[in-house]
Amino acid sequence: MEQRRTWEDWMKDLKHYIWNPEKKEVLGRDAKSWCLILLFYFVLYAFLTGMFALCIYGLLSTISPYVPTYRDRVFPPGVSIRPHVSGFHYSFTPSEESTWSAYSENLQKFLEAYDDEKQIENNIVCTPGHYFIQEREEHEEKKACQFRRSMLQNCSGIDDPSFGFSKGKPCFILKMNRIVGFKAGSGTPITVTCDTPKANHTLIGDVHFYPVHYFDLMYFPFYGKLTHVNYTSPLVAIHFTEVTRNTDITIQCKINGQDIINDHKTDRFLGRIVFTMNIR
Ligand SMILES: *[C@@H]1O[C@H](CO)[C@@H](O)[C@H](O)[C@H]1NC(C)=O
Ligand SMILES: *[C@@H]1O[C@H](CO)[C@@H](O)[C@H](O)[C@H]1NC(C)=O
Ligand SMILES: *[C@@H]1O[C@H](CO)[C@@H](O)[C@H](O)[C@H]1NC(C)=O
Repeated sequence: MEQRRTWEDWMKDLKHYIWNPEKKEVLGRDAKSWCLILLFYFVLYAFLTGMFALCIYGLLSTISPYVPTYRDRVFPPGVSIRPHVSGFHYSFTPSEESTWSAYSENLQKFLEAYDDEKQIENNIVCTPGHYFIQEREEHEEKKACQFRRSMLQNCSGIDDPSFGFSKGKPCFILKMNRIVGFKAGSGTPITVTCDTPKANHTLIGDVHFYPVHYFDLMYFPFYGKLTHVNYTSPLVAIHFTEVTRNTDITIQCKINGQDIINDHKTDRFLGRIVFTMNIR
């Protein structure tokens, strides 16, 4: 008998299971049972949605949009260099503008935000040598200190729009990454030094720094871009005036100071920048 159950019998059973006219059941349950089960799931999901919404609400209400919430360990800053066109190999021929115009254009563009008129209009003059602490409410706008590009003197691009590239005395600009609330240097300014780690230092000769060889304390702390609206990072321009020609020179510029890491084995941008230069 069992053997003789056909496909049609099986289908008939299934249909009967889906809709049982004698007992008025759908999938083995009558209307009341279905209502109860739907009600149960409705209540369950409403409860879960409520729980989830409450958690998200609780989380969001403890997070401030102005400062990061968890900062038990402030990570030391990285540095970036300008001009940055592609890669960290700078080779050019001073007499051929096409070999360095990308560099000077990149610097001009980068320094637009530091134009003297803009800085004087947007920012205030601060007292050097002290942190610029602003005891205002978290959500209130903070003032920023002027950093005028004319302070970069021979590397400002004002008198020499080629930033020294046309004379074989190129300028580079170093910037420290912003960290909200970071009091750089813990009271002593962070300094910048450049050397040739694998070669004789005479290959680069004298190096000049503008406006000074450190990041003044008055540009810290940074209060975050929502409230520190006109903030511009302080810069240190590096002027190489005696570079040996026709040689690949590896140069390393570091920031030095309290809580700064600049000798990490694998992270080349943590507190330092390494690049090569070849002036033909
Ligand atoms: C930012 O600059 C604008 C434009 O000059 C100025 O109106 C505004 O007051 C500045 N904000 C702060 C907080 O200094
Ligand atoms: C800076 O520029 C001035 C004026 O052009 C020049 O006399 C001086 O030698 C330059 N300094 C360096 C280090 O190139
Ligand atoms: C670096 O080069 C200069 C000049 O070429 C030389 O007098 C000096 O001894 C060299 N220093 C080192 C550490 O090799």
